[in-house]
Amino acid sequence: MHRRDFVLGALGAGLASTGSMSLLFPVGLSANAAAATNTIPYGAAIRVDNLESDPDYAAAVRTYCQQVVGEGGLKWFDLRPDRSVFNFDQPDRLIAFADANGMTMRGHTLVWYAALPEWTKDITASEAEFELTHHIEVVVGRYRGRIPNWDVVNEPISEDPAKEGPLRDSIWLQALGKGYIELAFRTAAATDPDARLVLNDFNFEKTTEVCRQRRVAMLDLLKELKDRDVPVHALGLQGHLTGEAEIDKEGLSRFVEEVSGLGLDIYVTELDVIDNNLPAAQGVRDQIAALRVRDYLTAICDVVEPKAILTWGISDKYTWVPIWFKRRDGLLNRPLPLDENFQPKAMMQVLQEFTRAGS
Ligand code: XIL
Repeated sequence: MHRRDFVLGALGAGLASTGSMSLLFPVGLSANAAAATNTIPYGAAIRVDNLESDPDYAAAVRTYCQQVVGEGGLKWFDLRPDRSVFNFDQPDRLIAFADANGMTMRGHTLVWYAALPEWTKDITASEAEFELTHHIEVVVGRYRGRIPNWDVVNEPISEDPAKEGPLRDSIWLQALGKGYIELAFRTAAATDPDARLVLNDFNFEKTTEVCRQRRVAMLDLLKELKDRDVPVHALGLQGHLTGEAEIDKEGLSRFVEEVSGLGLDIYVTELDVIDNNLPAAQGVRDQIAALRVRDYLTAICDVVEPKAILTWGISDKYTWVPIWFKRRDGLLNRPLPLDENFQPKAMMQVLQEFTRAGS
């Protein structure tokens, strides 16, 4: 039985009756102290420009995080403004911050269908293999021994496998076929044999048929890669949770079980709660968001301990959510563990139940 089960079992009822999150830790044990007893590192996606211009933001990251990942900076769009150029400005600044604050930095992401600069549209099939392997060799080579794990391929599974087939379309799939995934992992492993290599994707946690199909498609892909001894070490579960959607705890736990049964680790890489369809009242919205996060992490952690749990941002002040999921009522989205003033919300307390956040 997990410590957390004991805490929830004994006090969960209290939560239901009072709705106050502060009841979730043994009496006298603060959230930080509770987090200190945990082993799972906590981290967040960071905007390095804001980190340097907003001291409260930097302070919040130092307070809570053991790991950081660039929200941008290592994507082709930022890194490769031109075919002959590698612009390492953002990742170099972020890894310097991480080094200076005793944190590790994750690498996100080497191969993705999105965030590609215009010039990549001209990559011919005969050039694609060189462009993909050259990119990985230069980027992974630069941070060899400094970035311990990479999202090698991001979002390989199609939105709706039943309609579109298992793999998402991309310039890489068109030019190289599904072999682009194997090529990317073999190149990354050859460049940094010690790095942990992650296949990263989203939308596996809901009770919908599409989620079930995506779980099947991802498991099939992972089995095929393992059968071919492709050096993939882990599945990254992004976890962009839909606020109004129930978590399929049974389905997610079974999925995680099957993935770890293949000898793969689990990372939670981009956790946030998309709240554009949640009630306007902040208190209620934050409680629902926190409970979604708890259900999600419980379903995963009941089966296996993730290597790390990261949120996609740390404060509602800096989040991608309004780009795609702006609220119709015009209210600020609240998808993250700290509010826009860097004050901890119920979600941060849940994260401190599972991770070392703030310790
Ligand atoms: C998002 C960033 O947060 C935005 O700033 C950017 O405009 C688009 O990309 N899945 C991923 C992340 O793997 O890289 C995406 O990040 C969000 C969804």
